[in-house]
Amino acid sequence: MLAIIGGTGLDQLGNLKIAHRQVIRTPYGEPSGALTFGTINGHEVMFLARHGYGHTIQPHEVNYRANLWALYEQGAKRVISVASVGGIRADLTPGTVVVPDQIIDYTYGRPFTFFDGRDRPVTHIDFTQPYTHELRKQILTAAVFAREKCLDGGVYAATQGPRLETAAEINRLERDGADMVGMTGMPEAALARELGLSYAAIAVVVNYAAGRGNSRDAVQLGTIGLIAGPAMARVRNILGLVVESDAN
Ligand code: HPA
Repeated sequence: MLAIIGGTGLDQLGNLKIAHRQVIRTPYGEPSGALTFGTINGHEVMFLARHGYGHTIQPHEVNYRANLWALYEQGAKRVISVASVGGIRADLTPGTVVVPDQIIDYTYGRPFTFFDGRDRPVTHIDFTQPYTHELRKQILTAAVFAREKCLDGGVYAATQGPRLETAAEINRLERDGADMVGMTGMPEAALARELGLSYAAIAVVVNYAAGRGNSRDAVQLGTIGLIAGPAMARVRNILGLVVESDAN
């Protein structure tokens, strides 16, 4: 089944017909909220609001392990993460939708693996390509059919938050090769890989990163909602067609 993790601006899915909600407990604690089960265009999906349904859970306080575990245990095979980001690369202007293909992890202090404890053998996952190629292609193809512009590829820098970055930090991220910056991409992507889930992200640029564009002096926090609203409607259109593609 396809699972969707909604981020800021997407704590519900307008085109989801809700069948039921289920509270799940996991060995890692409580997920961000009950899982919502339903259908989009007749296809079964599950949905979870990453920051909770009332948007009260900070990026560094999200229980990423419980979230991924709950989706996995309930039968998710593919997970699409929707996340808002700040745009660093010049063409990633507010309102742009992009499917990243790489991640750099700057987060710290978050429980980031299922493979801890001395009672199990040392386990490594390959993470050369952090997002599942096939699922990325399914999103990009769905966007073409939905006639929604969606850029293919970009490096997502995952920062700790909840504060935004300094202008110098954004310059450094750019020198590192980052194209966009968000706070929730990690450890989510790695945990999905540890569980063997297909995982890809749809990033929505909701502001210029600090020091860029109209964020030259300050990030315009007040306008984020204005940008996110219509952009998330476009993401819903894309998701409405991703559900048609085969799970594998
Ligand atoms: N920085 C980090 N995370 C974000 C931003 C940003 O500018 N915008 C949305 N999420």
